[in-house]
Amino acid sequence: MSVLDRFETHTYDVLVIGAGGAGLRAAIEASACGAKVALICKSLLGKAHTVMAEGGIAAALANVDNQDNWQTHFKDTMKGGKFLNNYRMAELHAKESPERVIELEKWGALFDRTQEGKILQRAFGGHSYKRLSHVGDRTGLEMIRTLQDKGVHMGIDVYMECTVTRLFKTNGKISGAFAYWRENGRFIVFNAKAVILATGGVGKAYKITSNSWEYTADGQILAYKAGAELIDCEFVQFHPTGMIWPPGVIGLLVTEAVRGEGGLLKNNKGERFMQKYDPAKMELSTRDVVARAIYTENKEDRGSPHGGAFLDISHKGAEYIKKKLPSMYHQFKELADVDITIGPMEVGPTCHYSMGGVRVDAETALTNIPGLYACGEVAAGLHGANRLGGNSLSDLLVFGRRAGMYAAEYTRLDKEILQIKDTDINMAEKEMTGFFENKSDENPYTIHTELQELMQNNVGIFRVEGDLKHAISELKTLSVRAENVKVTGSRMYNPGWHMAYDLKNMILYSEAIAKCALQRKESRGAHSRIDFPNTDPEHGRWNSIVKMSSDENILVDKLPLSEISSELKKFFDTDPVMVKK
Ligand code: FUM
Repeated sequence: MSVLDRFETHTYDVLVIGAGGAGLRAAIEASACGAKVALICKSLLGKAHTVMAEGGIAAALANVDNQDNWQTHFKDTMKGGKFLNNYRMAELHAKESPERVIELEKWGALFDRTQEGKILQRAFGGHSYKRLSHVGDRTGLEMIRTLQDKGVHMGIDVYMECTVTRLFKTNGKISGAFAYWRENGRFIVFNAKAVILATGGVGKAYKITSNSWEYTADGQILAYKAGAELIDCEFVQFHPTGMIWPPGVIGLLVTEAVRGEGGLLKNNKGERFMQKYDPAKMELSTRDVVARAIYTENKEDRGSPHGGAFLDISHKGAEYIKKKLPSMYHQFKELADVDITIGPMEVGPTCHYSMGGVRVDAETALTNIPGLYACGEVAAGLHGANRLGGNSLSDLLVFGRRAGMYAAEYTRLDKEILQIKDTDINMAEKEMTGFFENKSDENPYTIHTELQELMQNNVGIFRVEGDLKHAISELKTLSVRAENVKVTGSRMYNPGWHMAYDLKNMILYSEAIAKCALQRKESRGAHSRIDFPNTDPEHGRWNSIVKMSSDENILVDKLPLSEISSELKKFFDTDPVMVKK
């Protein structure tokens, strides 16, 4: 009897792990290119962080501001990312996103319209023009609905409530993945020629986050353990406006569209404090600047009662608010008993997005492992040190499509299905069953709470060497404790077991964040060092890179930025490296 006989097994050309916008778009493209595709989601299909990008998709359609074009979108993205972005990714993204939005509309997405019947666009922080195509404040939801509908009708096989725990390689190339059904705990072996990671972010490593339970750095760590490189892990985005009251909803997103539609931020003295931090852009400054401003107002005792700021859109009137921001209206009415058509909301920063992640080739989304691709939030490069709002939805359409297309092409050229080694399957199984054999009484939920406190307090919006070193040392301790977590019961319906696995990924990726943050001795974009408050041009010449050492430790180094083409360089008056904070 072969090892495989003990498992449910499936064979595909392309395995897409993660079924948010990026995964769905990649699966659709790979399938359209003729590949046999499976789409795996940890949760139910349609439940994805994509829906938390509420305010719109950034694409230079120029429907409202006709001066807009891809060049300006490219420049805005680079400026917002403080020039650490991969230039080629930013160029492809700016050029291709209008086409991807129109395609989405052809597939059934119902956007809000201008008077002339074009797709309506709104303002967002850091974008020079009204650029965000939207559906009220439910844009991500409409995108997921459309892509899901398209994907299902294409006949893509979907595995719901299924978690991938290991990638397999044979002769240095991807050969499949090991997974389990969350419901009954039974294992599955996928044999595949190519894998596309589209698992999203890492937000659950922080205490206050807009991310839900699925976002535990799975794809980043699957890639890392398979030998892929990670970059720019220090850049974690704190969205300036999450709910801060009542306690049960802390972190829940309050869309930037509130500010895009004219919402004003005020402190407890009634001052529009953004005047001090960015008088030109005010509430529509970039997220890193607004998040720091709210944090600082609080530190200096000018915060709102629950430790944030007041965000007020009531001057726009009830009809306008209910039409433009229906979800926000209901969210505050139902969850906080606040009528935002009458008075202000209370908001504060919430961990929302990871700019860092898996290093990929700009054109193809290929990692350094043959057959392994990554797109969407799990991949890095496009957003540099800070992402502009709305650029995530266009990112996942542009690079999801590219990942699907190139993965399908790879499987056409590389026809052979590689055999997975028995020893690798046995190890992957042991890794998951080992929790039941541990002797300690460590509880995974206790360790998770400690991790979230540690990251929130020491590797948050503002950082300093002492805190980062403390976090790195504590993460080592947490990692040993997480190895020893004892899970009781069986594999059936066992959330403690799921958390035991997720925890190891979150701790490992948190170490990458903290180590990269320690290495970057400057402040840039979403990374603010109290001990190095200025942007240092020398630090603008490299991205952080993370690899696994031969003894399986996280190694952090500097990777010189890719050379900007002369065609793109002419868009900037000064050397991009000389950017000021
Ligand atoms: O505020 C928002 O609607 C979020 C958008 C985004 O993260 O791109």
